[in-house]
Amino acid sequence: MKQLTVTLLSIAFSVAPLMAGYHVASPDGRLCLSVDTDAAGVLRYSVERDGVTVLNPSRLGMLTSGAEPFADGFTIKNATYKDIDETWPTVWGEEDSIRNNCREMRLDLVQGGRDLAVVFRVFNDGLGFRYEFPRQPGLGDFTITDELTEFAFPESHTSWSIPAEKVNYYEGIYRQLPLDSIGTASTPVTIAGDGLYMALHEANLTDYAAMNVTATPGSPVLKASLTPWSTGELVFVTDVRHSPWRTLIVTESLPDLMLSRIMLNLNEPCAIEDTSWILPQRYIGIWWCYHLRKLTWGNGERHGATTANMKRYIDFAARHGFGGVLAEGWNKDWWTYDFSFTEPYDDFDTDSVCTYGRERGVQFISHHETGSKVANYEAQLDSAFAYCRDKGIHYVKTGYTHKLLDGAERHSSQFGVRHMRKVLETAARYGVNIDNHEPVMPTGLQRTWPNLMTQEGVRGQEWDAWNVAGGNQPSHTVTVPFTRGLAGPMDFTPVTFNFDNPVLPGTRVCTTLAKQLALFLILYSPLQMASDMIENYEANPGPLAFVESCPTDWARTVYPEAEIGKFITVARKDRHSDDWFVAGATGDDARTARFSLDFLDPDCTYTAIIYRDGEGADWETNPYPVTIERRKVDASTVLEIPEARSGGFAIRLMK
Ligand code: NOJ
Repeated sequence: MKQLTVTLLSIAFSVAPLMAGYHVASPDGRLCLSVDTDAAGVLRYSVERDGVTVLNPSRLGMLTSGAEPFADGFTIKNATYKDIDETWPTVWGEEDSIRNNCREMRLDLVQGGRDLAVVFRVFNDGLGFRYEFPRQPGLGDFTITDELTEFAFPESHTSWSIPAEKVNYYEGIYRQLPLDSIGTASTPVTIAGDGLYMALHEANLTDYAAMNVTATPGSPVLKASLTPWSTGELVFVTDVRHSPWRTLIVTESLPDLMLSRIMLNLNEPCAIEDTSWILPQRYIGIWWCYHLRKLTWGNGERHGATTANMKRYIDFAARHGFGGVLAEGWNKDWWTYDFSFTEPYDDFDTDSVCTYGRERGVQFISHHETGSKVANYEAQLDSAFAYCRDKGIHYVKTGYTHKLLDGAERHSSQFGVRHMRKVLETAARYGVNIDNHEPVMPTGLQRTWPNLMTQEGVRGQEWDAWNVAGGNQPSHTVTVPFTRGLAGPMDFTPVTFNFDNPVLPGTRVCTTLAKQLALFLILYSPLQMASDMIENYEANPGPLAFVESCPTDWARTVYPEAEIGKFITVARKDRHSDDWFVAGATGDDARTARFSLDFLDPDCTYTAIIYRDGEGADWETNPYPVTIERRKVDASTVLEIPEARSGGFAIRLMK
């Protein structure tokens, strides 16, 4: 199944050079990267596509302490080229296998008597590069005090990003701004200009700080700005002797942007030998009731996570095809935030819950809210996951709800990156899958650690329960697939069926019910939550049937329609059957989705069950009507489906 062809080339691949120096082009020859040094030995790279500038000469380098800076005085000693063309199977994902096809150029550098390297990989749909700092006499441990990496766009293209400051856990509204006005932004930054769709981000964030980028007003040049430690340093370089990959997707269409897999390709292959316990699934939870302030996480009269309530949810899950039930508030102590991860509240019997679930094919999805008390969590890490193993618990949602870890360090700092990796690797040793809330922005680590099934890091559905300013506005849910979604699976937790929250006037879900169904498919997550209380599902069996039928693991994905912040239509083929699922959603404006089903197998007829906005549906005035209809279709069918304002549709297609 796995084909691997790695060819070492001894000669440089020549392209029309943007700069003098060294060059490498994508396998199709269209994307070209050049690197050179100037008279002071400053290293710069530039990029063009089909002769059009993508990046002007952009600086590379680091400022350091404990070692001379890597800023200038570079000599390129040697260039080594390699063709990579391999296809690797995914443990789970939006497709069952991924082709990794690129050209690599490794530049060995000498600077101040030390050997360093920058490795570039150029794909047909983008590029990545990283720094290597081999340990050597005169270069032991050192500290990065600034990363000088630039992305010198030729113009201040339109972009979508969230600010890195004053937004906690990446739960911000994406702003559409010219590049020079973004201040310091988290990545991914999505960019449109010169007929191209691009996204700037990073891959394989290991023992380093997360990358943000800073713009100077009036200049389209972005500069890396890493999240610092509380003491001001950026990265302590010790055992891991390379940076993450800096990545730039460069494509001509939004579907190609969405389908770029360069970030996964720049991560290491799967490190887990037996992946049989890593199973995608739909889940529900004792959860929305807390955000609506109906029940409490902590024990007492209105305690949510009781054995009895859990069994009720497990019964519902078993009847309606959900593989797991999340119980937040099962453990001590939510009143003090001094959490134990092995002591349930007296009214929650873990053994009884797990046995009851096992007998009905439903997993208990456990919860480790840490309150960002990392020291407390790390002290219990082994016992916490041993507890899971002993009880047969294979899924844990982790959470870090305080904006500073241990009261000092930011989530996206090297401290946070190190901690979250430690949790992930410990969980893997105990056979536990992770759903990480308040995470570090994903960077494709799920290729190496597929037990990292999903993460939050997005302004999710919960904001609709308690944001009295009106929750997530209609365009938000058709913006995040093109921004945060590029970084990896999102635990957005859609599928609310009842939009009333009398406890907090002003809050509401700003979609139609049909759009909620659509989001279950559009917002990709292999561990996908239907977030509402089971009473609200029981009251709506018609629409619920779509969720009951919708898988979370795919053989193939295509995007027939897409416009950032306006609308999106996605089609996904089930990994374990011939079924296809299609969903579309729109933002502020009603529209008619129009797309061909040419992705279906030819010469076959399919039955389509269509769930769409019903007569008069409108997110503000009449969100609930859903029309459910059946029709016969085939690969030559062009479907036209009306979508209400902030509406949508979901379709199951069966051969
Ligand atoms: C924030 C998380 O996003 C949410 O899902 C969770 O319920 C609360 N923290 C409590 O842990």
